Amino acid sequence: MSGSTRPDPLATSGPARTADTAPANVLVVDDKEIVRNFLCEVLELAGHRVTVVETGRDALDVCHKGQVQVLVTDLRMEPMSGQELIRRLKAHSPSTVPIVLTGYGSVERTVELMRLGAFDVLTKPCRATEILATVEKALAHHEALDANQDLRTRLEAQEGKRQQIQEKLAMIGKLAAGVAHELNNPLDATLRCVRLTKDRVKDDPEASEYLDLAHAGLLRMADIVQSLLTFSREAAVEQAPQPLDELVGEAITGVALALDTAAPRMRQDIDTIVAGVHVPRGLHQVVTNLLRNAADACEGEGTITVTGRLVDDEILLEVTDLGPGIAEDVLPRVFEPFFTTKDPGKGTGLGLPISARLVEKFGGAMSIECPASGGTIVTVALPAERYGADLVQEAS
Ligand SMILES: Nc1ncnc2c1ncn2[C@@H]1O[C@H](COP(=O)(O)OP(=O)(O)OP(=O)(O)O)[C@@H](O)[C@H]1O
Ligand SMILES: [Mg+2]
Repeated sequence: MSGSTRPDPLATSGPARTADTAPANVLVVDDKEIVRNFLCEVLELAGHRVTVVETGRDALDVCHKGQVQVLVTDLRMEPMSGQELIRRLKAHSPSTVPIVLTGYGSVERTVELMRLGAFDVLTKPCRATEILATVEKALAHHEALDANQDLRTRLEAQEGKRQQIQEKLAMIGKLAAGVAHELNNPLDATLRCVRLTKDRVKDDPEASEYLDLAHAGLLRMADIVQSLLTFSREAAVEQAPQPLDELVGEAITGVALALDTAAPRMRQDIDTIVAGVHVPRGLHQVVTNLLRNAADACEGEGTITVTGRLVDDEILLEVTDLGPGIAEDVLPRVFEPFFTTKDPGKGTGLGLPISARLVEKFGGAMSIECPASGGTIVTVALPAERYGADLVQEAS
């Protein structure tokens, strides 16, 4: 091996390499020099980076300092046994995978070591191929552990972010509710005054026109105040039960009337099995919001369909439009309060968050997707059991 840039393990006395050699992939600990050197050579020849030490304490030091993926340890060592080493390793470097190499193997001992966290127990004398195969498996296991840890760290970060957003939303909600509360009464009074004045200036077309504009503006403001109150959970939610098909029918008629000539075709296709299910009346506002969004998206073109069906233990209500869909970077934001892509005065960005909150109140969940074939599907999933337990039995 002379001339090679790798250190010659056979040429060293005592530890072939020291704890300062970092980073180590495989750490060998054995109190017998001949074993250390043999293992070091075998592992290095297979291309692994190897650190060797004499005692369990040194091994722990190396593990604490750097990233040791696999530890190959002797069992009978002084002052710290291989067993004790594994126990401590599991507490401080849980992703290091330990392999035990012992001259004193027994089934009981192997079971005990595995229970402690040993990945495998090999009995000396041991062939190089067997050692290498076990180390390879242990490295793969380490990789899997690492990937798992990575995923867990990412999930924790995401959860932290989600909590931050929730706290922010709660603050916005409180603020909005406060403002809306304060606006509610003066707004009501102003609307009443405008209505009264309109009656008095019937004969003045110009004044009437101005008052009509003021009236429309005030109604829009009242609408926004109502949305803010609903969003901040200040408004009472209509819980009175109403058959699903009737509720959807009323929402379609309401949106068609409001949009008048700009209304696209809207139809409902509700399975008979769920048509008569009594859902809370507050769902009307949800369906209305979704129909309005769909109508805005398809600009009067195509057909908007509301379907209702039973899938497993859920009533699925879907509003499908054939509009342009939602861009990939916009999609994750549509449930954010005040997020809108519409022109000022056209949207407050509260329709979807309010709907999601209402659906949540009814024990369900909302989702939105844009299939590759085009358009948008918004799904409201309600727990079937809550709104018609007999319906689940009927279906099965
Ligand atoms: N069916 C749909 N097709 C395309 N985009 C949609 C659809 N539904 C929602 N969106 C997008 O999601 C955004 C948020 O919708 P949301 O209903 O919360 O607010 P808005 O419609 O903009 O305003 P508001 O409902 O308060 O009047 C919309 O601005 C739009 O970009
Ligand atoms: Mg909307």
